[in-house]
Amino acid sequence: MSPSLSIGLLQERSLFEGFSLFPEGASSVSGQVDLIFLGWVLVAGTFSVGIAIALVLLSLRYRRARSPQAAEIEGSARLEILWSAVPLAIALGFFVWGAKVYMDMRTVPEGGLRFNVTGKQWMWKLQHPTGQREINTLHVPVDETVVLTMTSEDVIHSFFVPAFRVKTDVVPGMYSTLWFRATKVGRYHLFCAEYCGTEHSKMGGEVVVMERPDYERWLGGQEFAGTPEEAGAALFTKMRCDTCHAAGSTQRGPALAGLFGTERPLAGGGTVLFDAAHVRESILEPRKRVSAGYEPLMPSYKGQLGEEELLQLVAYLRALEAPQEEGR
Ligand code: CUA
Repeated sequence: MSPSLSIGLLQERSLFEGFSLFPEGASSVSGQVDLIFLGWVLVAGTFSVGIAIALVLLSLRYRRARSPQAAEIEGSARLEILWSAVPLAIALGFFVWGAKVYMDMRTVPEGGLRFNVTGKQWMWKLQHPTGQREINTLHVPVDETVVLTMTSEDVIHSFFVPAFRVKTDVVPGMYSTLWFRATKVGRYHLFCAEYCGTEHSKMGGEVVVMERPDYERWLGGQEFAGTPEEAGAALFTKMRCDTCHAAGSTQRGPALAGLFGTERPLAGGGTVLFDAAHVRESILEPRKRVSAGYEPLMPSYKGQLGEEELLQLVAYLRALEAPQEEGR
């Protein structure tokens, strides 16, 4: 290889360094998402190139000098059915495929490490299952399911990790859930993907994926004041929730142990799933949905508890197991 050619190649390499058609794929779903995208590129490319070639060939073949007499064609049912049915089949095929992958991405697997995420202008506040807190950086272990329960303190944000191909809106007043399983150790960009004000573009950081022992070591080096469950338990007492909700209390409200994840009958009929959203609503707007058999006595705690404290109470109630019955 001549020296000038190899220098040229070297320059080219540096020019395209860090440039790639796809961001790095580093999660259990990234391959499937890329495959759908590639599929669409292939279909769109095939049609575009096919049409362009046909256009050139036909304009040469039927140019005026060769066939001056244009023939009138009155339409063809067979052709019309063909060019309707084929694209329909392709589009429906992609729809089914895309829906399947989307469902996989939306369905949170059992178990997994539960992290709390609070977005605010303009930072991400993250809390580990063991209680450690971080801002704009999230350390996670590789090859483990990570489940994020997310909410916002102000406006709509969006949690986006391109390398994992996951993105979910983070909305004030509700909880959204996102899960991923990182498959490669490394550092990956974390973005806010919803315009949320002046410093939206700076609202981000990185997800650091580590081997399990490294993650444990990292956790060990962080200061923390108890797990979210413990903080929630302390709040439960501090806010006097236990006066009405603990087993053996005055029982003006239902005892809450073991309720998380169950369907609860409501006063006035119907049921509600006792989940994070229901816990949050019951604390802030207790009279909206009252449990069957109870009076709407509970006062609202709006303004007294922040989003992170609400998440801690959710973590506490989620972990609260039903008491084992005696003699079993
Ligand atoms: Cu938060 Cu954009």
